[in-house]
Order: sequence, then C-alpha cells, then structure tokens
Amino acid sequence: MVNTLSNYKELSSTVADIVEQQLKEEPLSRLCLPTGSTPLGLYEELVNRELDWSSVMTFNLDVYLMNVNHPQSYQSYMRKNLFDRINIYPTLCRYPDRNTREYEQKIKGLGGIDLCILGIGTNGHIAFNEPGSSFDSRTRVVVLDEQTIKDNSRFFDSIEDVPTQAITMGLGTIMESKKIVLMVNSVDKLNILNVAINGEVTESVPASILQRHDNVEVYYCD
Ligand code: PGA
Repeated sequence: MVNTLSNYKELSSTVADIVEQQLKEEPLSRLCLPTGSTPLGLYEELVNRELDWSSVMTFNLDVYLMNVNHPQSYQSYMRKNLFDRINIYPTLCRYPDRNTREYEQKIKGLGGIDLCILGIGTNGHIAFNEPGSSFDSRTRVVVLDEQTIKDNSRFFDSIEDVPTQAITMGLGTIMESKKIVLMVNSVDKLNILNVAINGEVTESVPASILQRHDNVEVYYCD
C-alpha cells in the first residue's frame, strides 16, 4: 500500500502522473483536493503540464472558517497555487460552506468523487477530521485540534491568528471516493503513517479508516 519515493520532486511528479492520467481518461473528472504544504509541489507540477481542465470539477476537502479573501484562507491558497494558473472554470471549483448538505448533495448528484488526494496531519487527521471523528461523519463545521492549530501556526504571524474552526468533508464522504491517494512527505509523519496503515482501525486515528477502502494508494518520501 505504501510506495516510498526518493524525494519530494518524485513524490510530486508521481502523484501528478496519477492526476494527469485521470484527466486524460475522464475529461469530466470530479477531483477532491487538499491544501497545506504537502501538495504544493504537486500543484506546481500540474501547472507546468499541458492539461485540459476545462471540464474538470473540483471539491476542496476543507476550509477554515475565516474571511475567504484572507491570504491564508484555503480559497486564496487554491487560487494562488492552482486555479488561477490553469484553464479551470472558477465556478466549477467548489468549497465546503455552511450549507453542508448542499455540498454533499452536489457531490452525490454528480456521481461522486473520482479521485481524492489527501495529506495526513501529525495527529492522524485527514482533511480536518480530527481524532475522535466518527467514521460515518459527513461535511460539517468542526473545532480544530490543539495540535492542528500548533502545526498550522507556521503559516500565520502568530498562533492566535490561526482559525479555531473549519468546515470539512466527513470521513464517510471521503470514503465514498472511487480512488484515494494519500501523500506524505516528512519523516516526522512516518510514525503516524505506520499507525494509520498498519495499526488498529480506530476513530482515534482518523486516517486508519483508509484501511477499509479498496482503492487507496499511499506515496511517501522523507
Ligand atoms: P501539511 O498538512 O501538508 O501542511 O503537512 C497536511 C494535513 O494536515 O493534512
């Protein structure tokens, strides 16, 4: 299940190959996309490839509950790192908002997510499904874990500036994706990755639910 790659460039280009193949096989693909530091190289790779995004629809995994125009909002992140640099229609780029049921219905109505790219938090979260999240959870407003706030404070001037709430796709929502790719790019996450992939399947390690998915690939580099 875990594919170990020699460096971050290789990790990024390997996952970019998977996205490229998906878009070539299915121009109307519905992708679920992550934010954070891990996918930055992937987005750079994708921008540099001649891909047609004109029929692609994206659903982001999560957003902070904050001003969407703030430079650290995930909407700003996606525009800056990907959407403003490819030929995707902005109206086809969706983010969870307080109308969580509508987000779920939209995904379902379109036939579900074809490819979901994930990262993992140092506490084992996927999207903002923090430890203790129900395996049946759906898109909802959540309170961020102390560890997540600490980890993400590196993107903000001070830890007090990190939003404490977010809206995330649920674990149940993510698990309905046809294919899932988990990207992990730090030796600091090797331990939690091992626990998630080889340990007990438990709600205290949200990523452990991936053991129950029959089409998941994990790509790791240190
Ligand atoms: P990172 O975050 O890519 O910034 O390490 C991953 C995550 O928290 O899911």
